[in-house]
Amino acid sequence: MENIHIKRNHDKRIKSGHLWIFSNELEAIPELPAGSIVEIYTSDNTFLGLGFYNPHSLISVRLLKTNKEINIDFFLDRISNALNLRKILNNTGMSRIVFGESDLLPGLIVDKYGEYLSIQISSAGMENLKDVIIDALLRVIPNIKGIIAKNNSKPRELEGLTLDETVLFGEIPDEIITNENGIILSISLKQSQKTGYFIDQSNNRKFIISISKNINVLDCYCNQGGFGLHAAKAGAKEIICVDSSDTALSKARRNAELNNFSNIRFVQSDVADYLKNELTENRKWDLIILDPPAFAKSKKDVKTAIKGYAKINRLAMQLLSESGFLATSSCSQHISEEVFLSTIQFEAAKLNIQLRQIFRGTQSPDHPILASMPETKYLKFFVFQKISI
Ligand SMILES: C[S@@+](CC[C@H](N)C(=O)[O-])C[C@H]1O[C@@H](n2cnc3c(N)ncnc32)[C@H](O)[C@@H]1O
Repeated sequence: MENIHIKRNHDKRIKSGHLWIFSNELEAIPELPAGSIVEIYTSDNTFLGLGFYNPHSLISVRLLKTNKEINIDFFLDRISNALNLRKILNNTGMSRIVFGESDLLPGLIVDKYGEYLSIQISSAGMENLKDVIIDALLRVIPNIKGIIAKNNSKPRELEGLTLDETVLFGEIPDEIITNENGIILSISLKQSQKTGYFIDQSNNRKFIISISKNINVLDCYCNQGGFGLHAAKAGAKEIICVDSSDTALSKARRNAELNNFSNIRFVQSDVADYLKNELTENRKWDLIILDPPAFAKSKKDVKTAIKGYAKINRLAMQLLSESGFLATSSCSQHISEEVFLSTIQFEAAKLNIQLRQIFRGTQSPDHPILASMPETKYLKFFVFQKISI
């Protein structure tokens, strides 16, 4: 196994628990195949553990925090630990079972939908070990009927991996019926975006139940209806759900039917266009939910992304009724909570609107945040109330 050394004075972050070593922090970039397992040392030869090496990626090494062989026992141990947390959280029905670095399994995501698993691999090291991982998953999680790899995420390309979607084990049905916070959901692992459903917003959706009774709700970027369905369950009067994806909307309609919610309307539109139109028609909404896709996929997108968040939040604020609520979210890891908050406050001030924050959320606990790695925190979610003056 090749030894790799970190440059002098570049190991502080790693020693404090961060798992990524960047190419400019290594003494040399050895010519090894992507995904090779290497031994990592400080410049004075202190062993820091094994890691996945990738000469094509800016993240040259992903540390595994172990000195033991990377074999089936390693994965059985790590996946069992990850599963134990989800058992404590009591969400083993529909849940993220493995959240990459936060479960010390860099580049591996495993989501469980009933008896089916949907996985995403975004590091060459994990890709090389795919068969061992599947074996470990089947041994640790009982009664799994099918596993699909939804390897369609951008980070894969940065690791030199191809994009694909493949059934890796058993069969994947067209529809899986599951439930979230007491709402029946039909999930299609084959047709959906990401791994099947945006599980990370689960706790934030629960909060939406508490404020939605007897009001009208506009759920923007609704995908399969997650927030809107929660508002319907809470007894909202009227709900309109907007998304640009026809596939997502047809799933959302199916979900409304399954729950016998008849007061939700689904509209296929670009959200900004829809909001502008509502403004010209002088409509008012008691609750507007904004849950757009990540506007900043990388650091270079941050400036444009801020403009995007400013635009949709500005439009939404103008459509709020007196004392209306704005539930606004950003899943861009490159936009910090401070920047997101100040963007919203800046727009509110320009419109002479006073907002008060009544809820601050993040990703649900089955997407844990590694304290030593800010990169594992990505979801911002705030609910504000407009104060009538
Ligand atoms: C983060 S997901 C929303 C998740 C959803 N709120 C939920 O609770 O599951 C973002 C959604 O935005 C949709 N989308 C992307 N660009 C859009 C646009 N310009 N206008 C409307 N919808 C858009 C995608 O189809 C996707 O469903």
